[in-house]
Amino acid sequence: MEIAPFIWAHRGASGLAPENTMAAFRQAELAGADGIELDVHLSRDGRPVVIHDETIDRTTDGSGAVADILLRDLQRRDAGSWFAPEFCGETVPLLEEVLGWAADRIRLNIEIKSPQAGRAVLDLLSQFPDVSVLISSFRHDLLFSMRQWSPDLPIAFLSDSCFWRLALKRAVACQAESFHPPERHVTRVLVNACHQLGMKVFPWTVDDTRRRDTLLRIGVDGLFTNFPQGNGVS
Ligand code: G3P
Ligand code: MG
Repeated sequence: MEIAPFIWAHRGASGLAPENTMAAFRQAELAGADGIELDVHLSRDGRPVVIHDETIDRTTDGSGAVADILLRDLQRRDAGSWFAPEFCGETVPLLEEVLGWAADRIRLNIEIKSPQAGRAVLDLLSQFPDVSVLISSFRHDLLFSMRQWSPDLPIAFLSDSCFWRLALKRAVACQAESFHPPERHVTRVLVNACHQLGMKVFPWTVDDTRRRDTLLRIGVDGLFTNFPQGNGVS
């Protein structure tokens, strides 16, 4: 029996709604995504917040580094209007808000952008035991630390290097369950190497139908897309 590919909504359904907002997460669930990918930084007062960039300039009406802004000031910013006027009033979510919303309905891939956020994310997860999470990062040293702090934590390795074999070796040593390469690096050789090591492959970010079909033929286990509706068809 063929297993359906696992569709991760990249930053939520970020082709349809402002990335990393509750609107994008709700749209992802409505679109039938299997899981939601989101990015995490730490606010100045140490709260894990859901935003991709180091600064709030691109995705809010404010400016400055996330790490320099108190949560209360961050939450005053509009994180929706830059995308379209009807999303005015969307805010930068707290990670705990998203964990509470997801409950046991949809898996969350929490990509940790700032290494300082690792410990705070783990502390939060203990309050939400029903949520199925997958922790990923390009910061592989952080992932090794998190493995030490939490032996059963589901971990995924993000790689953006064409020297993917090195990252894959480290992923195995860290007991990662999946490998997340950029879609342009994915070949049958890469997929087979992952599968031989018992690791799933989820490439990012695939919005093109033809590329999606090719990747599925090659044997990826799923993919990240900004357009999760219709199983990742843009
Ligand atoms: O986790 C997959 C993908 O999100 C990694 O790149 O820059 O979109 O966070 P980026
Ligand atoms: Mg990401």
